[in-house]
Amino acid sequence: MKSKKKPNSTGSSPAPDSACDWDPLSEEVLRDQLLAHDQMRERCPVAYSDKMGWSVFRHDDVLQVLQDPSTFSSVVSDHPSVPNGFDPPRHTEYRRIIEPLFTAQKVHEFEPTCRRIAESVLKDIAGRQEIEFVCEFAERFAVRAQCAFLGWPEGLEAPLLQWLSRSQRATLSGDRAVLSDVADEFSKLVAERIVASQSPDNQGDGLTVLKLQTVTGSPLSQEEIVSLVRNLTVGEVATLSASLAIVVYELATSPEVQKRVRSQMDDLPYAIEETLRKHGPLLTNRRRTTCPVKLGDRHIDAGERITVMWPAANRDARIFDNPNDFQWDRPQDDNLLYGKGLHICPGAGLARLELLVALKALLNGTQWLKLNRDKAPRLASYPASGFATMPIVMER
Ligand code: HEM
Repeated sequence: MKSKKKPNSTGSSPAPDSACDWDPLSEEVLRDQLLAHDQMRERCPVAYSDKMGWSVFRHDDVLQVLQDPSTFSSVVSDHPSVPNGFDPPRHTEYRRIIEPLFTAQKVHEFEPTCRRIAESVLKDIAGRQEIEFVCEFAERFAVRAQCAFLGWPEGLEAPLLQWLSRSQRATLSGDRAVLSDVADEFSKLVAERIVASQSPDNQGDGLTVLKLQTVTGSPLSQEEIVSLVRNLTVGEVATLSASLAIVVYELATSPEVQKRVRSQMDDLPYAIEETLRKHGPLLTNRRRTTCPVKLGDRHIDAGERITVMWPAANRDARIFDNPNDFQWDRPQDDNLLYGKGLHICPGAGLARLELLVALKALLNGTQWLKLNRDKAPRLASYPASGFATMPIVMER
């Protein structure tokens, strides 16, 4: 796993012992990221690589990053993304705009629509015993639910899914020109269609609401709106669909868990949180140091890239006993599934509802879920987590 490459000289030079501790994109790592990141957490908990800068694997080091935004800034790129690529005070202003979109009341009101969407996805696969769960259920549900919640046109489903897969390939390539093309593509393909779909009788949708917002006295620019829309619409579709596949895998491979949630649906919310703790659906988020800092046993200079490794932190045995086991009644306070600190996920309530509704519908529509013995699931790899494909058998 150790790379022979020397660190590049972006920003100040890393500590002398840090000459590429690992290669996050090596075949060995990509084959099973959870395992590889677990091994890194124990071998080299704050590890340098050209690709990610300083990757932070341990729970307490991750907390240090999340809880000190003045040292670990979120301004990581020349094209900051709204709201996650900003620090206070501007970040606070953006959160003021975003949080009212996701109140408990709004999430609650969305439940019936969400249920209809889950039923419509199940209808698309009615009568089928075998499906490829990721593309035939998880992605379809996630994109339909996100578009419906935010009031975007239904016709966006297919272009959004295609854009998402191009965007993931661009992130993997790390090529700035390709990334910028993909971002432009989003503005053209999606934002223009959303704008075009506006009509006088369509006053209440998400975009109209955003257009009325101001940040430090000025209306949001077109660029800010596109960035925010991108994050709210597609940014989380991948995480949500990864989450669905991860939970269904757990149910299909742990008969005791599946049996219990089928007989006591009230236990399903806990089962979702615990499953997603031990197999995180979101792999990384980034920060940049604003001053020299000690993280773990590494001394890191100002201007260095930091990468938070969510799944590794949530599988740290220093915090969670037997972290790779699903345990009923494990305290979830330290679960970093939805983050912590200033950037904690504003969509957590919505995500919880969507996961619960989709999984309930799936369980109610089937007698039993199991893996397809003839077709093994394939793990996803960076920048995605979860499964690339997961053929399942649905006993009706
Ligand atoms: C299972 C699904 C989801 C998971 C696991 C998840 C997880 C996270 C995490 C860990 C962060 C913190 C990132 C950081 O500290 O850098 C975050 C931020 C964010 N999430 Fe989620 N999320 C999910 C679903 C959603 C949904 C459905 C939405 C909205 C529709 C959403 C919108 C956001 C936004 C806008 C941010 C940036 C917040 C900020 O920077 O202040 N997320 N999410």
